[in-house]
Amino acid sequence: MKIGVLTGGGDAPGLNAAIRGVVRRALQGGDEVLGIQEGWLGMLEGIAEPLTHDSVSDIVNLGGTILGTSRTNPYKHEGGVIRCRANFEAWGLDALVAIGGDDTLSVAARLVDEEELPCLGIPKTMDNDISGTDYTIGFDTAVTIVMDALDKLTTTAMAHRRVMVVEVMGRHAGWVALIGGMAGGADYILIPEVPMNMKRLCDHLLRRWAIGKRYSLVVVSEGVQVKTEIDESQLEKDEFGHILLKERGVGPTVAEEIEKRTGLETRVVVLGHLVRGGSPSLTDRINAGRLGVVAVDYAREGRWGYMPAIRGGQVVPVRLADAVGQTKTVDLELYRLAEVFF
Ligand code: F6P
Repeated sequence: MKIGVLTGGGDAPGLNAAIRGVVRRALQGGDEVLGIQEGWLGMLEGIAEPLTHDSVSDIVNLGGTILGTSRTNPYKHEGGVIRCRANFEAWGLDALVAIGGDDTLSVAARLVDEEELPCLGIPKTMDNDISGTDYTIGFDTAVTIVMDALDKLTTTAMAHRRVMVVEVMGRHAGWVALIGGMAGGADYILIPEVPMNMKRLCDHLLRRWAIGKRYSLVVVSEGVQVKTEIDESQLEKDEFGHILLKERGVGPTVAEEIEKRTGLETRVVVLGHLVRGGSPSLTDRINAGRLGVVAVDYAREGRWGYMPAIRGGQVVPVRLADAVGQTKTVDLELYRLAEVFF
């Protein structure tokens, strides 16, 4: 077989481990792999190169993606799908493994359903918001980075008797804020799934001060709804219709409001792309490699329109159509658990 592989959407640590899994499994069974560059853009423009045993040597520990990535949506380009099909055929592909989040996987799902192209997916997103799977590539590393950052920010917050507001990525789901925040001992966590209550937050911070805890760490997800001066309809959108949430300035807005209401000195740190950078964690290296290997097994079985997912520790097939388009949001039970530690 000739298997194409691409990575789309935001990069995430563990993508290279997944590519390595695809290539090594394919070569083990005598199959070939073509690396398509920069996500669906490479598919549209016909940019690809063969991946050999050597191409994926020494990349298990490397963040980013050796294939490059983009937020290109073929359905937003004139004749995009026709061009994808033409390249698919010109390259002689028998299968395509698209590694990505909801956007990338939704394109793969449509290409299977509407175009009958033999595509599969692998779930990747540091946001951890893909349905049908307990695990997505990049999340474990991201929350570990948030935890490390909170450890560092705690000491400076304590030294200056300050409130530190830490804004983290997470688009429409609060997983990164919640799990990273819990691990780093956050004193309050704001996520999009729980309506913001500024009074409750400020009362909590003042109560801490009153009992002698003269510092606090507040973790806020970029997707939280706050009133800002910014007109969101004017913000630039990517080809999947998403605005860059960082531009909304949620962290600075929350910090300003805390200072105004409590009089406590407050600083803000926006972790942004830092949580997507650097080496993948142990979990991301192992799980991404597993998913890469199993995706090739699924291709050999002709399971088009599926992705290998991890559920209860086992790798299981999940239909892309069942995984995309429905954000996996935070379980509120888990938020109530986090509140125990506020
Ligand atoms: O989708 C993943 C994500 O990390 C979001 O949490 C974030 O809003 C977005 O990507 C920003 O990424 P970029 O600046 O690369 O478009």
